[in-house]
Amino acid sequence: MAQRISLTRYLVEQQRIDGLIPGQLRLLLEVVARACKGISQAVNKGALGGVLGSAGTENVQGEVQKKLDIIANEVLIEANEWGGHLAAMASEEMAGIHPVPNRYPQGEYLLLFDPLDGSSNIDVNVSIGTIFSVLKKPAGLAGVTEADFLQPGHAQVAAGYCVYGPQTTLVLTVGDGVAMFTLDREQGSFVLTQQNVRIPEDTREFAINMSNMRHWDAPVRRYIDECLAGKEGPRAKDFNMRWIASMVADVHRILTRGGIFMYPWDKREPDKPGKLRLMYEANPMSWIVEQAGGAATNGHQRILDVVPTGLHERVSVILGSKNEVERVTSYHG
Ligand code: AHG
Ligand code: MN
Ligand code: MN
Repeated sequence: MAQRISLTRYLVEQQRIDGLIPGQLRLLLEVVARACKGISQAVNKGALGGVLGSAGTENVQGEVQKKLDIIANEVLIEANEWGGHLAAMASEEMAGIHPVPNRYPQGEYLLLFDPLDGSSNIDVNVSIGTIFSVLKKPAGLAGVTEADFLQPGHAQVAAGYCVYGPQTTLVLTVGDGVAMFTLDREQGSFVLTQQNVRIPEDTREFAINMSNMRHWDAPVRRYIDECLAGKEGPRAKDFNMRWIASMVADVHRILTRGGIFMYPWDKREPDKPGKLRLMYEANPMSWIVEQAGGAATNGHQRILDVVPTGLHERVSVILGSKNEVERVTSYHG
């Protein structure tokens, strides 16, 4: 029987063979994975666990929080506070950063997360997830500030997401390709189920919220118009469409069979560069996609090169199969 490789063993071997994962980072990734198991349990209980529905509060982005947004945020904070691997955390659900309390040792890493991605899908039992990004705290002064987090995506040292769907799958990169792990509920452990994940360079499948079409800019309109024209149009092939409204699930599909995902700038809120958040949605997903041979831009530049100016900054996102992302980006001139 083929040997099962647990996440723990995978990380230990990466640490040992490739020297890619220092001890503190390995601990951090194990702790995040454990927190995701906890969130997965809560998600699975659904109505039986009393976790569905709105919490009746708003986050810093002005969005109504679901109970699970708050539960997932708390699970991640509690799991990560005491291990000594972190200096601070930041989350979609918290306005400011959350430094590790003084009673615990301070580590050298910074952790950012979208604790529950796809909140509109929680109550309807559609795939949702957790997205995370790990940065190194810049060397220098003691203490930690929000400015320490404002590093471009190419500075990430680890990134991943966990999708809570028909299976619970953890996807991870530390800059050496992308690995996928499936949660074995009986054993309580994540088992390596795919390594060196590759996104096909071409695709016939796009993901975008079509209801916003009238608000899009000309380059995105042109691209989608050309897809919709199918065999008879300039692309000379038919395209299929998917939109799950959970970025984790849409990106997971793209890692599995290719595709292009877009949440572009639109005229609804012209002052915002996009809907999705750079630091804990676009950056980790862009790095994972690039590590799998895909591409990610905001229409003008590589997302990983965007220099952030705020923790909750938004960005226009075009990611997935390389040739399609390059095409849409070239339409932006
Ligand atoms: P979140 O639930 O963390 O706020 O993120 C939801 C995001 C993303 O996951 C998804 O792609 C997008 O919002 C869906 O937006 P629409 O509802 O506008 O389609
Ligand atoms: Mn999200
Ligand atoms: Mn969220």
